[in-house]
Amino acid sequence: MPLNTDKSSSVTDALMTRITVRDFLDKPVPDDVLKGIFETARRTASGGNLQPWRIHVMTGEALDKFRNDALAKMMKGQMEKETHPAYPSPLWEPQRSWRYKLGEDMYGLVGIPREDKPARMRWLANNVRFFGAPVGIIITGNKKLGMPQHLDIGIYVQSLMLLAREAGLHTAPQGWWRIWPDTAREHLDFPGDEEVLVGMSLGYGNPDAKVNDLWADRAELNELVHFYS
Ligand SMILES: Cc1cc2nc3c(=O)[nH]c(=O)nc-3n(C[C@H](O)[C@H](O)[C@H](O)COP(=O)(O)O)c2cc1C
Repeated sequence: MPLNTDKSSSVTDALMTRITVRDFLDKPVPDDVLKGIFETARRTASGGNLQPWRIHVMTGEALDKFRNDALAKMMKGQMEKETHPAYPSPLWEPQRSWRYKLGEDMYGLVGIPREDKPARMRWLANNVRFFGAPVGIIITGNKKLGMPQHLDIGIYVQSLMLLAREAGLHTAPQGWWRIWPDTAREHLDFPGDEEVLVGMSLGYGNPDAKVNDLWADRAELNELVHFYS
């Protein structure tokens, strides 16, 4: 299915047309549109109204400096200590297979065979470029936050993703940025007791990019949702 770049006018439409976009157009997001998204996202619910998120929004020179720095470190093989691992290890079924299938589908679309590990690594490195997006977002939170607050932050991330669709924009949520916490600390203003929890690319999705044709599978309704009556 081709990438839908229209503005969503319902929550259903926003959900149904949202995908993780991994190739963005080199087109700036107007300031009022960008600010409007964060203004509305203030209404996101959180347990006890803690609003545990701290949002760092980068554009222009600040964004370029950040991603170029991370890219340069990556090219040198320099690593940082990730704040939280992306998945439990080892993963179990069916999640293990779902994750595997996502990788296969994505690399299949961009024409990188399973054996070509260097090409897969190079492709993965698009994360560090915020997939070419004009807006890069890092979300930090206090290191003392627990699972309930991390859930709140997930809800905030969903607010951003849906509001972006309403504005005709797309997003890529990126756990990737948890592996560059020192770089984030060097470029952004957050206290020592906070850590990087997640990042996000935001901008106009490139409808001509093959990778943006990726419609990740979903489990059937009755696999994960149980109705009781
Ligand atoms: C919290 C979170 C972190 C993610 N981190 C990454 C990431 O670092 N890089 C990436 O390419 N995709 C990332 N994704 C995208 C997922 O792979 C994607 O949401 C999933 O495969 C479903 O596909 P869809 O978003 O296109 O519907 C992340 C998604 C979420 C919700």
